Amino acid sequence: MLGALQRSLRPALSRARPWRRELQVTRACAATPAAALRLHDDHLVVHHEGTPIRLNYVWLRDHCRSASSYNSKTNQRNLDTVSIDLDIRPDCTALEDGHLVLAWPGGHVSKYSLSWLAQNSYEGKKKSSVQPRILWNSDIYQNANVPSAKWETFMSCDDELKKFLHNYLLYGIAFVDDVPATVEATEAVCQRVSLIRETTYGRMWCFTSDFSRGDTAYSQLALDRHTDTSYLQEPCGIQVFHCLKHEGTGGKTLLVDGFHAAEKLRQQSRENFELLAHVPIRHEYIENSDNHRNHMNGIGPVLDVYPWNNEVYLIRYNNYDRSVINTVPHDVVQRWYVAYRELTTELRRPENELWVKLTPGKVIFIDNWRVMHGRESFTGLRQLCGCYLTRDDVLSAARGFDLQA
Ligand SMILES: [Fe+2]
Repeated sequence: MLGALQRSLRPALSRARPWRRELQVTRACAATPAAALRLHDDHLVVHHEGTPIRLNYVWLRDHCRSASSYNSKTNQRNLDTVSIDLDIRPDCTALEDGHLVLAWPGGHVSKYSLSWLAQNSYEGKKKSSVQPRILWNSDIYQNANVPSAKWETFMSCDDELKKFLHNYLLYGIAFVDDVPATVEATEAVCQRVSLIRETTYGRMWCFTSDFSRGDTAYSQLALDRHTDTSYLQEPCGIQVFHCLKHEGTGGKTLLVDGFHAAEKLRQQSRENFELLAHVPIRHEYIENSDNHRNHMNGIGPVLDVYPWNNEVYLIRYNNYDRSVINTVPHDVVQRWYVAYRELTTELRRPENELWVKLTPGKVIFIDNWRVMHGRESFTGLRQLCGCYLTRDDVLSAARGFDLQA
């Protein structure tokens, strides 16, 4: 293989040496007319479908998918990355039938499909979102007429689960209707989606307004929009609610798309957006009762953003649990309050509020990294059960259905 490769490249190589001083251009073969190759000191540039892709040589050797470098059965790397010479560069290069072929010093040959390189390159990732989403306000969500899954079909039919996950990924909320109004059925419907994440509140929690825990949620008071467990270093991924019983008035659930508000803020004031994305904020949960002693502490910015494509992937917004701000000097603190005020103004716009009456049988799944929840005050006995789900396992289930997550 290496011999044939070297023979096919001999004319180009003789023209291009010495490698380290000059660029080499290898013409694309007939099967890849849009591609051309340029070699630089520590990287090469391959043009694929009109886009230049820049690939570092160490990266290329590290991402070799040959059997000795990579176990395709377990999808794990065999190669010891630190054994790669940091000044490595290929002895020979070729473009063959939509593939980049590199022969390395010592004789090892790596072959990569151009489409794989394009998909996995920085340039490819920079252009695409990790998770396609539909950002919404109340009108957008209601006009979309997103259907709820139905309990019986949901529990038995994978297609129904896939549709549910698709809607959940797009909107950050999804519903299952006709669920028996019991903790057991709620647990079953949750386990159909993911693993339950146990917290200090237990696996499945079930509460009435009896102040049994040191948290406002256990009262009849209204709750402003917030994300849950911002005091955990990794906030819970999914929040599930099922209202098992309510004999009284009020208690509607408020939902607000935090990412919609964050994008509005980004459009209005890039500086304020960046501030909320960079200033680390502490959230804290302190509970001292006879039965429960907790002191949780989570640190992170209000907005977490992927640095390569500027996509927001996590919002921490809980004014109840936000702790002392002492991570930035006073002049930044003033600017942070301005930015926080602007985000809050967006979050509180009435047109961004989706109000839902949760009734027995209707289970709601909320992306707690994106969608805020709250509630209006209520009277009478209200019994709510629910749990948190692990985010990784929900996304894994979605990817199992070939959904982008
Ligand atoms: Fe909450």
